[in-house]
Amino acid sequence: MTVTITWLGHATWQVQTGRHTLVIDPFFDGNPAATMAAKDVHCDYVLVSHGHGDHVGDAAAIANRCDATVISNYDLCLWLSNTQGVQKTLGMNLGGSATLPFGRVKMTVAHHSSMLPDGSYGGNPCGFVLRLPEKTLYFACDTALFGDMKYIGDMGIDVAVLPIGDLFTLGPEDALEAVKLLRPKQVIPSHYNTWPPIAQDARGWAKVVEQQTSSKVCVLEVGEALKL
Ligand code: NI
Ligand code: MN
Repeated sequence: MTVTITWLGHATWQVQTGRHTLVIDPFFDGNPAATMAAKDVHCDYVLVSHGHGDHVGDAAAIANRCDATVISNYDLCLWLSNTQGVQKTLGMNLGGSATLPFGRVKMTVAHHSSMLPDGSYGGNPCGFVLRLPEKTLYFACDTALFGDMKYIGDMGIDVAVLPIGDLFTLGPEDALEAVKLLRPKQVIPSHYNTWPPIAQDARGWAKVVEQQTSSKVCVLEVGEALKL
């Protein structure tokens, strides 16, 4: 079986594994980098890393239309069910794991903030490690650099998806340090070029990473997929 990871723009990713489709941080409507609309997305799980609008985005609309389960922190799941009418949620918290039909999800630390668009408390921001039958993926989501990435690396990461946009998250220099700690076989840059303040030269960054580490960098265009 293959796992397919598709960049849908900004920090929005689709993962296809077996019969399951996961969408991570679905932000389509109002996303200048998106090439598809939220109404055209089909998935059975929606993972949301934190409460900011560019991540929680279209989560409720997609989950309700697709009858998908939203996986996020407990507090954000409560907000989705109480105020957005989301029927199916799995609330987790940092350090916890859950076994689901597609594999095992671990909610990892992210150093960021998480207020929801209406000002509500959005719980702790997080990243996700997905242990799929085929591969182990790590989505750092919005975060600063932290030394415990070393322990995430010890899980044996096949693909790490890291923000490189700077300003709000890891920038290119710290994302390079993150690769050194995580030691993934492959790394994919995320959360850049959506707006001018987070414009980055991903191919230039890829060269530096490949010179200084043994990780391969896969720079995707929006809509492009990596098949593993
Ligand atoms: Ni954010
Ligand atoms: Mn963000």
